[in-house]
Amino acid sequence: MTNEPVAQENPTRAFYDRLSKRYDALADAWEHGSREKGVEALAIGPGEEVLEIGYGTGHALEQLARAKARVVGIELSEGMRSVAAGRIAGSGLEARIQMDLGDARALPYEDDRFDAVFMSFTLELFADAEIQQVLSEAKRVLRAGGKLGIVALAEKHPPNLMSEIYVWLHEHFPHLVDCRPIDTVGHLRRAGFRIRETLVMSIWSLPVVSVVAMKPDGAWY
Ligand SMILES: C[S@@+](CC[C@H](N)C(=O)[O-])C[C@H]1O[C@@H](n2cnc3c(N)ncnc32)[C@H](O)[C@@H]1O
Repeated sequence: MTNEPVAQENPTRAFYDRLSKRYDALADAWEHGSREKGVEALAIGPGEEVLEIGYGTGHALEQLARAKARVVGIELSEGMRSVAAGRIAGSGLEARIQMDLGDARALPYEDDRFDAVFMSFTLELFADAEIQQVLSEAKRVLRAGGKLGIVALAEKHPPNLMSEIYVWLHEHFPHLVDCRPIDTVGHLRRAGFRIRETLVMSIWSLPVVSVVAMKPDGAWY
């Protein structure tokens, strides 16, 4: 396991450490359907090596390992890692899953290593400039032609009432509602990914998007 030094005072880390034992009860009930569809859309083949960024309580790590992938996860919060480790212990999948601690903005992996990278409900935690940093790191560690799967809250144009309430809560209480809807496809295009597939879902009438994008491999399409 990589134990990258992570600043003790990091507020995101402290937030998820506090939330970790209650995260599944509070959030997983409505998030899991979209996350599972996002993992399915990645269509991982047996033996492929996948990185999950921000693996939280470990549901997607488990789903990916059940698809016979070799899975590496990186997570900022020790509390979340410990809940994920509890889920994986005794599942019979331990040999296929490595759970690291570290920061998505500076991934401790070599260039071109992974066949795929996956993130759910995590990219929208970052400020716009940091999103480009995270995507650039994801692109660096993906092999050419490798796939990036993102599941994220999506912007709604024009916004519906739920979107307006959610954005208002994020702007006024960011320490409670840390995610906000983002333009995932736009961010991916700016980072130099090619969009392969987009699926729009919804949680409590908030749009959620699953996007599969590809790191260009130099071939003409
Ligand atoms: C909203 S939760 C989603 C967890 C999981 N992906 C899921 O779908 O249930 C966001 C996760 O991202 C992690 N995270 C936040 N900032 C991070 C960073 N800079 N590097 C790695 N993980 C981070 C948090 O600790 C948390 O576990």
